[in-house]
Amino acid sequence: MLISGRGSNLQSLIAAAGASYRIILVISNVEGAAGLEKAGAANIPAMVIPHAGKSREVFDAEVDAALRAAGAELVVLAGFMRILSDGFVRGWEGRLINIHPSLLPGYKGTKVHERVIEGKEALSGASVHFVVPELDAGPVIAQASVPVHPGDTPQTLAERVLGVEHKLYPEALTLLASDKVKLQDGLAVFS
Ligand code: GRF
Repeated sequence: MLISGRGSNLQSLIAAAGASYRIILVISNVEGAAGLEKAGAANIPAMVIPHAGKSREVFDAEVDAALRAAGAELVVLAGFMRILSDGFVRGWEGRLINIHPSLLPGYKGTKVHERVIEGKEALSGASVHFVVPELDAGPVIAQASVPVHPGDTPQTLAERVLGVEHKLYPEALTLLASDKVKLQDGLAVFS
Protein backbone atom coordinates (compact mmCIF):
# COMPACT_ATOMS: atom_id res chain seq x y z
CA MET A 1 0.00 0.00 0.00
CA LEU A 2 1.27 3.45 -0.86
CA ILE A 3 0.18 6.34 1.35
CA SER A 4 1.05 9.96 2.03
CA GLY A 5 -1.09 10.92 5.01
CA ARG A 6 -3.83 10.05 7.44
CA GLY A 7 -4.33 6.47 6.33
CA SER A 8 -8.02 6.03 7.14
CA ASN A 9 -8.44 3.88 4.02
CA LEU A 10 -5.37 1.91 5.05
CA GLN A 11 -7.09 1.32 8.39
CA SER A 12 -10.25 0.02 6.75
CA LEU A 13 -8.22 -2.23 4.45
CA ILE A 14 -6.28 -3.57 7.45
CA ALA A 15 -9.57 -4.31 9.22
CA ALA A 16 -10.93 -6.25 6.23
CA ALA A 17 -7.71 -8.16 5.41
CA GLY A 18 -7.34 -11.89 5.92
CA ALA A 19 -9.62 -13.96 3.77
CA SER A 20 -8.69 -12.71 0.31
CA TYR A 21 -5.69 -10.42 0.73
CA ARG A 22 -2.86 -9.64 3.10
CA ILE A 23 -1.09 -6.29 3.46
CA ILE A 24 2.64 -7.01 3.43
CA LEU A 25 4.15 -3.55 3.15
CA VAL A 26 3.15 0.08 3.59
CA ILE A 27 5.27 2.75 1.91
CA SER A 28 4.83 6.46 2.59
CA ASN A 29 6.58 9.21 0.67
CA VAL A 30 5.95 11.51 3.65
CA GLU A 31 7.85 11.10 6.89
CA GLY A 32 5.59 11.09 9.95
CA ALA A 33 2.44 10.27 7.94
CA ALA A 34 -0.22 9.16 10.45
CA GLY A 35 -0.88 6.05 8.37
CA LEU A 36 2.58 4.71 9.26
CA GLU A 37 1.50 4.40 12.90
CA LYS A 38 -1.62 2.53 11.84
CA ALA A 39 0.57 0.06 9.95
CA GLY A 40 2.86 -0.27 12.95
CA ALA A 41 -0.07 -0.92 15.29
CA ALA A 42 -1.13 -3.77 13.00
CA ASN A 43 2.42 -5.17 12.81
CA ILE A 44 2.66 -4.45 9.10
CA PRO A 45 6.15 -3.54 7.86
CA ALA A 46 6.22 0.15 6.95
CA MET A 47 8.86 2.36 5.41
CA VAL A 48 9.36 5.92 4.22
CA ILE A 49 10.77 6.59 0.78
CA PRO A 50 11.13 10.37 0.52
CA HIS A 51 10.64 11.94 -2.90
CA ALA A 52 12.35 15.28 -2.28
CA GLY A 53 15.31 16.00 -4.52
CA LYS A 54 14.71 12.97 -6.75
CA SER A 55 13.39 12.75 -10.28
CA ARG A 56 10.03 11.03 -10.63
CA GLU A 57 11.73 8.08 -12.32
CA VAL A 58 14.31 7.62 -9.54
CA PHE A 59 11.68 7.82 -6.80
CA ASP A 60 9.38 5.40 -8.64
CA ALA A 61 12.27 2.97 -9.21
CA GLU A 62 12.95 2.94 -5.47
CA VAL A 63 9.30 2.26 -4.68
CA ASP A 64 9.17 -0.43 -7.35
CA ALA A 65 12.30 -2.13 -5.96
CA ALA A 66 10.87 -2.12 -2.42
CA LEU A 67 7.57 -3.60 -3.60
CA ARG A 68 9.26 -6.34 -5.60
CA ALA A 69 11.69 -7.15 -2.77
CA ALA A 70 8.69 -7.60 -0.47
CA GLY A 71 7.00 -9.90 -2.99
CA ALA A 72 4.01 -7.62 -3.58
CA GLU A 73 1.45 -8.89 -6.07
CA LEU A 74 -0.88 -5.87 -6.02
CA VAL A 75 -0.25 -2.20 -5.35
CA VAL A 76 -2.98 -0.20 -3.63
CA LEU A 77 -2.85 3.60 -3.58
CA ALA A 78 -4.64 5.10 -0.59
CA GLY A 79 -4.20 8.82 -0.30
CA PHE A 80 -0.87 8.62 -2.13
CA MET A 81 -0.30 12.17 -3.32
CA ARG A 82 2.29 11.59 -6.05
CA ILE A 83 1.72 11.09 -9.74
CA LEU A 84 3.40 7.85 -10.81
CA SER A 85 5.49 7.66 -13.98
CA ASP A 86 4.18 5.86 -17.05
CA GLY A 87 6.94 3.27 -16.61
CA PHE A 88 5.84 2.42 -13.07
CA VAL A 89 2.18 2.27 -14.09
CA ARG A 90 2.93 -0.01 -17.04
CA GLY A 91 5.06 -2.26 -14.81
CA TRP A 92 2.07 -2.87 -12.52
CA GLU A 93 -0.64 -2.77 -15.16
CA GLY A 94 -3.80 -4.50 -13.98
CA ARG A 95 -2.34 -4.86 -10.49
CA LEU A 96 -2.40 -1.20 -9.43
CA ILE A 97 -5.55 0.46 -8.07
CA ASN A 98 -6.55 3.80 -6.56
CA ILE A 99 -9.52 5.31 -4.76
CA HIS A 100 -10.73 8.73 -5.83
CA PRO A 101 -13.35 10.76 -3.91
CA SER A 102 -15.71 11.48 -6.82
CA LEU A 103 -18.00 9.64 -9.16
CA LEU A 104 -15.50 9.21 -12.00
CA PRO A 105 -15.25 10.16 -14.81
CA GLY A 106 -16.55 13.34 -13.16
CA TYR A 107 -14.29 15.52 -11.05
CA LYS A 108 -10.84 14.06 -11.66
CA GLY A 109 -7.86 15.71 -9.98
CA THR A 110 -7.75 17.76 -6.78
CA LYS A 111 -10.17 19.99 -4.82
CA VAL A 112 -12.93 17.57 -5.74
CA HIS A 113 -15.45 18.44 -3.01
CA GLU A 114 -15.15 22.21 -3.59
CA ARG A 115 -15.84 21.71 -7.28
CA VAL A 116 -18.74 19.28 -6.70
CA ILE A 117 -20.43 21.85 -4.42
CA GLU A 118 -19.74 24.69 -6.88
CA GLY A 119 -21.16 22.50 -9.64
CA LYS A 120 -24.41 22.14 -7.62
CA GLU A 121 -24.34 18.36 -7.97
CA ALA A 122 -27.03 16.39 -6.18
CA LEU A 123 -24.77 13.34 -5.84
CA SER A 124 -21.13 12.67 -5.20
CA GLY A 125 -19.29 9.56 -4.16
CA ALA A 126 -16.13 7.49 -4.48
CA SER A 127 -14.60 5.35 -7.22
CA VAL A 128 -12.04 2.57 -7.11
CA HIS A 129 -10.27 2.26 -10.45
CA PHE A 130 -7.37 0.59 -12.19
CA VAL A 131 -4.51 3.07 -12.56
CA VAL A 132 -3.51 3.97 -16.10
CA PRO A 133 -0.99 6.62 -17.17
CA GLU A 134 -3.68 9.32 -17.58
CA LEU A 135 -4.61 10.75 -14.15
CA ASP A 136 -7.82 9.31 -12.59
CA ALA A 137 -8.84 7.93 -15.98
CA GLY A 138 -8.54 4.16 -15.50
CA PRO A 139 -11.47 1.76 -15.74
CA VAL A 140 -13.72 1.84 -12.69
CA ILE A 141 -14.00 -1.33 -10.57
CA ALA A 142 -16.58 -0.09 -8.04
CA GLN A 143 -18.40 3.09 -7.10
CA ALA A 144 -20.60 4.26 -4.25
CA SER A 145 -22.62 7.44 -4.18
CA VAL A 146 -23.77 9.81 -1.44
CA PRO A 147 -26.12 12.80 -1.54
CA VAL A 148 -24.78 16.33 -1.54
CA HIS A 149 -26.82 18.28 1.02
CA PRO A 150 -27.68 21.97 0.79
CA GLY A 151 -25.28 23.73 3.13
CA ASP A 152 -22.55 21.11 2.71
CA THR A 153 -19.01 22.40 3.04
CA PRO A 154 -16.07 20.63 1.40
CA GLN A 155 -15.33 19.17 4.84
CA THR A 156 -18.82 17.79 5.55
CA LEU A 157 -19.02 16.33 2.05
CA ALA A 158 -15.51 14.85 2.34
CA GLU A 159 -16.52 13.09 5.58
CA ARG A 160 -19.66 11.63 4.01
CA VAL A 161 -17.69 10.39 0.99
CA LEU A 162 -14.97 8.97 3.23
CA GLY A 163 -17.59 6.92 5.04
CA VAL A 164 -18.44 5.06 1.83
CA GLU A 165 -14.77 4.82 0.79
CA HIS A 166 -14.07 2.71 3.84
CA LYS A 167 -16.60 0.10 2.75
CA LEU A 168 -15.95 0.35 -0.98
CA TYR A 169 -12.17 -0.06 -1.04
CA PRO A 170 -12.01 -3.39 0.82
CA GLU A 171 -14.81 -4.72 -1.41
CA ALA A 172 -13.03 -3.66 -4.60
CA LEU A 173 -9.66 -4.99 -3.43
CA THR A 174 -11.31 -8.28 -2.51
CA LEU A 175 -12.70 -8.56 -6.06
CA LEU A 176 -9.26 -7.96 -7.55
CA ALA A 177 -7.40 -10.21 -5.12
CA SER A 178 -9.80 -13.06 -5.79
CA ASP A 179 -9.50 -12.66 -9.59
CA LYS A 180 -13.12 -11.60 -9.93
CA VAL A 181 -12.12 -8.50 -11.88
CA LYS A 182 -9.25 -7.88 -14.25
CA LEU A 183 -8.02 -5.22 -16.62
CA GLN A 184 -8.47 -6.42 -20.19
CA ASP A 185 -8.29 -4.36 -23.38
CA GLY A 186 -8.60 -1.16 -21.34
CA LEU A 187 -11.75 -2.31 -19.56
CA ALA A 188 -12.55 -3.66 -16.09
CA VAL A 189 -13.84 -7.14 -16.88
CA PHE A 190 -15.77 -9.05 -14.20
CA SER A 191 -16.21 -12.80 -13.91
C1 GRF B 1 -9.31 9.80 0.38
O1 GRF B 1 -10.35 10.74 0.33
C2 GRF B 1 -9.08 9.19 -0.98
O2 GRF B 1 -10.23 9.12 -1.77
C3 GRF B 1 -8.12 10.18 -1.62
O3 GRF B 1 -7.28 10.59 -0.57
C4 GRF B 1 -7.96 10.46 0.67
C5 GRF B 1 -7.10 9.62 1.54
O4 GRF B 1 -7.55 9.57 2.87
N1 GRF B 1 -7.41 9.55 -2.72
P1 GRF B 1 -6.85 8.56 3.89
O5 GRF B 1 -5.37 8.91 3.94
O6 GRF B 1 -7.08 7.16 3.40
O7 GRF B 1 -7.53 8.83 5.20
